[in-house]
Amino acid sequence: MSESITEKKKVLSCIQPSGMLTLGNYLGALKNWLAMQEEFDCTYAVADLHAITVRQEPAKFRSQIYSTCALLLALGLDPIKSTLFVQSHIPEHSQLSWLLSCYTQFGELSRMTQFKEKSQKHADNVNVGLFSYPVLMASDILLYKPDFVPVGADQKQHLEIARDIAMRFNRVYGDVFTIPEPYIPKIGARVMSLQDPAKKMSKSDDNINSFVAILDDRDSIIRKFKRAVTDSDSVVRVSEEKAGVSNLIGIYSAVTGKTASEVEREFEGKGYGEFKLAVGEAVADELAPIKERYEKIIADKAEIERIFKEGDEKAERIARKTYFKAMKKVGFVL
Ligand code: TYM
Repeated sequence: MSESITEKKKVLSCIQPSGMLTLGNYLGALKNWLAMQEEFDCTYAVADLHAITVRQEPAKFRSQIYSTCALLLALGLDPIKSTLFVQSHIPEHSQLSWLLSCYTQFGELSRMTQFKEKSQKHADNVNVGLFSYPVLMASDILLYKPDFVPVGADQKQHLEIARDIAMRFNRVYGDVFTIPEPYIPKIGARVMSLQDPAKKMSKSDDNINSFVAILDDRDSIIRKFKRAVTDSDSVVRVSEEKAGVSNLIGIYSAVTGKTASEVEREFEGKGYGEFKLAVGEAVADELAPIKERYEKIIADKAEIERIFKEGDEKAERIARKTYFKAMKKVGFVL
């Protein structure tokens, strides 16, 4: 019997609880998280340890951890099909991170785009955690031996360094880690800010008009799209010179499943006003049921804790096994 059952491929991904999750998180990663749980053995985490690389206000941070957990459940992640856990509850993430940091070069971390960007944005707090962030992320991934890691395009570089660290370690000690493949959507991999289409849409942006939160109400969503920065022309067309409009076309495609040329045809001869309204309505329709489910889930914190505690236990068993294997290979006395 067991011989005929082929093992499911494994999937791992995490999200930071550093603000209200956005349409960028949804289209770039979470939609795939959801789709993949039908076919794969999925493990998903709230990466709270990563969030303190920038200062968090404690009460707000705590409530964001709960709201991120609730939102993942509201999206339809099923704790029976997938393992859902909180990163800081599994000590092996920090422990493996130390081990792997001794197999990571200063030079390779210095080249990380996110480190360069964040150290510019938070020039008064360029802490060591911000620098070694990709090593912790490599630990998150490698502990669970995933085949695929569903992420948006901005995380590709971090995925590459995780692969490099794993290959380096395996070359010395044998087959300890699985080399993971990034899983990046064709459409929606890089959703840009609605106010500055040269920047990615980010939940930590100070300008709330620049992002759509998954939990925004319908009116705010439509208003934000109406205000979205476009250009002085009025043709709905994908083009490098039309970053704002191209971004809106990408969002509309990702939500409706239409191709970019179908969208261009749909709005031929129509102005930006009509187009922006259509994008806003399509996004609002897609997000409305999630918001409705979220309101119910967040009202029961004890149930959220119960679900994540169960996930923590499942995750811990796997993490401990990989961590001890790596330690043993290096020569530690266990
Ligand atoms: P985070 O929390 O910034 O984002 C979560 C996921 O959303 C994707 N994403 C986007 N996709 C498209 N357009 C955007 N504007 C956009 N903004 C965010 C991200 O690519 C990500 O997939 N370091 C990670 C969290 C992390 C992680 C991990 C991910 C920690 N450990 C292990 C994978 C595996 C991060 O900061 O994502």
